[in-house]
Amino acid sequence: MIAIGCDHAGFELKEAIRKYLEENNIEYKDFGTYSTDSVDYPVFAYKVADSIVKEECERGILCCGTGIGISMAANKVKGIRAAVCSDEFCAEMTRRHNDANIICLGGRVISEEMAVKLADIFLHTEFEGGKHLKRVNMVTDIENGKNIL
Ligand code: RB5
Repeated sequence: MIAIGCDHAGFELKEAIRKYLEENNIEYKDFGTYSTDSVDYPVFAYKVADSIVKEECERGILCCGTGIGISMAANKVKGIRAAVCSDEFCAEMTRRHNDANIICLGGRVISEEMAVKLADIFLHTEFEGGKHLKRVNMVTDIENGKNIL
């Protein structure tokens, strides 16, 4: 199950991604927002992030104007690794090396076509593990207040 969410500035991208998920028979839960009326992005970041840490959804896709604010909010939730991406290389590498569980996209930065491309890469690329797992675990240690030095 894929969680999707956005604010008003990411609404069109979210809709394009929703269409892609529908067409590809990928199960998703749409946490809103559902129009271009102005809303607060942390609400939707939290809803999507919470569904992932509660294991109701495996991965998430969040959209706001830049992808930045919504990623900052999502990354405050323990267990979330949210990555802002605007190109194919980063979308691939954040799965392979960072085991990102949320991709964040900017409706004022990239096209709908690019957003769908990045979502597709994000959903179909696996984490490499190995030395990258050690590093991802170190990030979790920092999150848990451990001194990793
Ligand atoms: C909304 O205008 C905008 O601030 C928001 O979508 C996002 O870009 C924040 O980071």
